[in-house]
Amino acid sequence: MGKDVIIACDFSSKQAVMDFLDKFTEEKPYVKIGMELFYAEGPSIVKEIKERGHKIFLDLKLCDIPNTVKKAMSVLSNLDVDMTNLHASGTIEMMQAAIEGLTKPDGTRPLLIAVTQLTSTSEERMREQLLIDKPLDEVVMHYASNAEKAGLDGVVCSPLEAGKVHDRCGAKFLTVTPGVRFADGDVGDQVRVTTPAKAKELGSDYIVVSRPITAAEDPVAAYRRCVAEFVG
Ligand code: C5P
Repeated sequence: MGKDVIIACDFSSKQAVMDFLDKFTEEKPYVKIGMELFYAEGPSIVKEIKERGHKIFLDLKLCDIPNTVKKAMSVLSNLDVDMTNLHASGTIEMMQAAIEGLTKPDGTRPLLIAVTQLTSTSEERMREQLLIDKPLDEVVMHYASNAEKAGLDGVVCSPLEAGKVHDRCGAKFLTVTPGVRFADGDVGDQVRVTTPAKAKELGSDYIVVSRPITAAEDPVAAYRRCVAEFVG
């Protein structure tokens, strides 16, 4: 599986995302579409970006009863995205149902990855509000292992966890990692960050980058810098 840089297109309208993508005249970056853009513009935004030649990671983080997730995944499957995701907290049964729903009659399906614990969930909140009384990294690794047992392709995690996830779930189990910043860039609200080069060294398979590219003075140059450092 080749390494790639995924640009998180965290825009709220079609106009804004198309204006951004228009800047890329030579390359077709892998694009992440999240809830904001999807709920604002509907499924047609996925098709339109796909038709422009971009690979798409549809980041909707599904979590519901297995039957509902299976049916929702089967609808998403028709959008022909390259990668999508769900919450591992929905259980192994829900993740297996998601794979069934996502798989097309010809047996193919998009990559399916799991969110373990959100990075906004601290160990303290997990213990006090969710009554999960284990260290956060143990919970993250356990959820990754559940995702692997369910047959998923990987997890979203920090580049700093990529090595551990590969050790536990196998080298082919994908690590899709946000929290990437250039060595000379603004950290913003991210806490644990690594550079694209460091993410490569740590074994990330895909880096998800938003502001270092979308807010750059020259987004195309920033994207190329990410690719040069991460893919080489
Ligand atoms: O601007 P920045 O590069 O920090 O954006 C990172 C992207 O990755 C955003 O779309 C953010 O929602 C997403 N993300 C994250 N941390 C996670 C999961 C997703 O930053 N654990």
